[in-house]
Amino acid sequence: MRRTARLAAEDAGLMEAAAILKRGGLVAFPTETVYGLGADATNAEAVAGIYAAKERPSFNPLISHVDSFDAARIQGAFDETARKLAEAFWPGPLTLVVPVASTCTVSDLARAGLDSVGLRVPSHPLAHALLKATGRPVAAPSANRSGRVSPTDADHVLGDLDGRIDAVLDGGATDVGVESTIVACLGGMPRLLRPGGVPSEAIEALLGRRLEIGSEGAKNPVAPGMLASHYAPRAQVRLNATEIRPGEAALLFGAAPLQGSAQAKAQLNLSENGDPKEAAAHLFSYLRRLDASGVETIAVAPVPETGLGEAINDRLRRAAAER
Ligand code: TXA
Ligand code: MG
Repeated sequence: MRRTARLAAEDAGLMEAAAILKRGGLVAFPTETVYGLGADATNAEAVAGIYAAKERPSFNPLISHVDSFDAARIQGAFDETARKLAEAFWPGPLTLVVPVASTCTVSDLARAGLDSVGLRVPSHPLAHALLKATGRPVAAPSANRSGRVSPTDADHVLGDLDGRIDAVLDGGATDVGVESTIVACLGGMPRLLRPGGVPSEAIEALLGRRLEIGSEGAKNPVAPGMLASHYAPRAQVRLNATEIRPGEAALLFGAAPLQGSAQAKAQLNLSENGDPKEAAAHLFSYLRRLDASGVETIAVAPVPETGLGEAINDRLRRAAAER
């Protein structure tokens, strides 16, 4: 339990909110759509804190909020269509999913390990001022506990998250009330991943063509979190390993060594202390590093189902199953 401060929408409150974000804390803040639960997107442990506070049982890619198109272009690669959409609808309730740029600083965890990044420049003056003062991308899902409705004022946020986050920046009621429209521009035709604050007709009118609906191959295209494009390593993933077999890479958890791990081709420990939050922060980047070692199989030590362990195991099971 921590004390959640209610910060006023004035300079001192803004500076305090930015300082909390910069040191890795959690701050809920108003956008024109709904209140977001923000963390420094470049700090994986801070991002893990979002999932812990929301009690989200799985890692979805998060939207990284920035204060300008120029800041967005450091994180993502904008093709002609994406640039057109950004120029027409930013700042505003539109999220663009684009390939990561080589200069991207958004953590693997905020991107759920994907090679794409969700970016948005909100138009709410407080959100804009906060992002400017923070000077880095801020990852923020809606500031509610998992399974509850999205909050449109500071009281809703406190009702769900009081004692679980550092502060809420109180900017009164938000005006759009529904989340941002999400459009993916990943090389092919632009695709509508989620309807929201910018009507899809307005986007289609600007582009002069219909939007494809949903992510390619998704079962239920418009539902967020149902994306077919989950990160999957190239190597096979063997779960709940109690020993490391010859030729395998080892993804460990906790202090106890696994039998055979000294001979592993490569090994990394998600958290020596057995801390699920630290493990979540490392999960995607460690999987990538072990995958890059060129092994055929990554053996993963058991991770307990407590706290973020549930979300970690959800992702590990997907990585093990997707072939
Ligand atoms: O209005 C909004 O969009 C609010 C405010 C706070 O900005 N945020 C919000 O975030 O609704 P959230 O986490 O509830 O929804 C984010 C959704 C994810 O579920 C996912 O579908 C999509 O954005 N998304 C983000 N990055 C993505 C990526 N790289 N690839 C595919 N989808 C992505
Ligand atoms: Mg939400």
